[in-house]
Amino acid sequence: MARVNFDHVYKIFGEDVYAVNDLSLDIQDGEFLVLVGPSGCGKSTALRCLAGLEDISRGHIYIGERDVTYLDPKDRDIAMVFQSYALYPHMSVRDNMGFSLNLRGASKADIKASVDRAAQILGLEDLLDRKPRELSGGQRQRVALGRAIVREPQAFLMDEPLSNLDAKLRVQTRAEITSLQRRLGVTTIYVTHDQIEAMTMGDRIAVMSAGVLQQLDTPQNLYDKPKNQFVATFIGSPSMNIFPATVVQNNGTAAIQGGENFSLTLPDAVKGLILDHKDEQINVGIRPEDIEVVQYAERADDDNTLRLPVRLVEPLGSEIMLHLEGPGEEPIVARVDPRVQLKGGDVAHVAFNTDKLHAFNPATEEALV
Ligand SMILES: Nc1ncnc2c1ncn2[C@@H]1O[C@H](COP(=O)(O)OP(=O)(O)O)[C@@H](O)[C@H]1O
Ligand SMILES: [Mg+2]
Repeated sequence: MARVNFDHVYKIFGEDVYAVNDLSLDIQDGEFLVLVGPSGCGKSTALRCLAGLEDISRGHIYIGERDVTYLDPKDRDIAMVFQSYALYPHMSVRDNMGFSLNLRGASKADIKASVDRAAQILGLEDLLDRKPRELSGGQRQRVALGRAIVREPQAFLMDEPLSNLDAKLRVQTRAEITSLQRRLGVTTIYVTHDQIEAMTMGDRIAVMSAGVLQQLDTPQNLYDKPKNQFVATFIGSPSMNIFPATVVQNNGTAAIQGGENFSLTLPDAVKGLILDHKDEQINVGIRPEDIEVVQYAERADDDNTLRLPVRLVEPLGSEIMLHLEGPGEEPIVARVDPRVQLKGGDVAHVAFNTDKLHAFNPATEEALV
């Protein structure tokens, strides 16, 4: 086990495709780090650089104290698990799992002991004599994990390992991988485009966009204190609402105004942060759960209630998504009590929890802190 370090790593394809753009990441020994971002943002490339499957254009990569930048994949002492399980079809589960130890010249007895131990950890004992085609997708993925475990590598690298599983199995396997990683304590770098996977699995999450690291933080900090609009809207579902509003100040009260009938008074905690932007337009952010229908609100503060036309109602059983007319083009989505009885065309009386407002510079999209 070891820490893993990306030190100003670039991967440039051709002249100007910066798939990985100045990535620096320090992953602690035993940490579960999730690399998340939309398709094409450079996650797989970053992982392939770490594995040695791509030569990097600039920078250095360290595993433990070793600079592995110029080492072959086989000398990096890592194990990779892919979306496609990449099992050998003609070999039994046992032989698939023991393959790398066999290559290393381990004794038959040692291989058997390692494979049996991994099989027990993963509940694969009864499947060791089967061929991959005789297994379900979930079982194949577990064999792929088993193959990684028997190598006792310095780090596990996983690239969207759950993508081929159906929704239910994905949730189950997600929990299995998390608890397995905690038990084994092996440094793990896990790539996914799925923010829920990232939030539920990672000790820390690195959010990438267009090759650039946007924020590296714990799940809760990413959610509560996103550094920019990209992170704010990427993490959380439904996304944080973003709308334009002007910062105004009268007689010591500060407010944001999104239009004639859209004004919210700012509490002290938020006020200090954005008064520098008095009379300017900013982007305001608020999460769907921080807007309530007044009748059902635990707190009703008259200063922060608005009457907004309802565009659409999405009932989800345990909650309702209300799409409200806001100052911007996009509706403002509120996640509200399922007892709320509103329909498209009604006017909703809603309370904004202004303690939870976010504000962004509309030009740079950086959080105004
Ligand atoms: N071998 C390659 N040659 C040229 N461009 C590539 C190659 N591999 C990846 N890219 C480009 O690099 C970017 C990042 O790709 P990738 O790392 O696969 O993204 P992700 O895994 O986040 O979906 C994309 O724009 C992709 O088209
Ligand atoms: Mg990928």
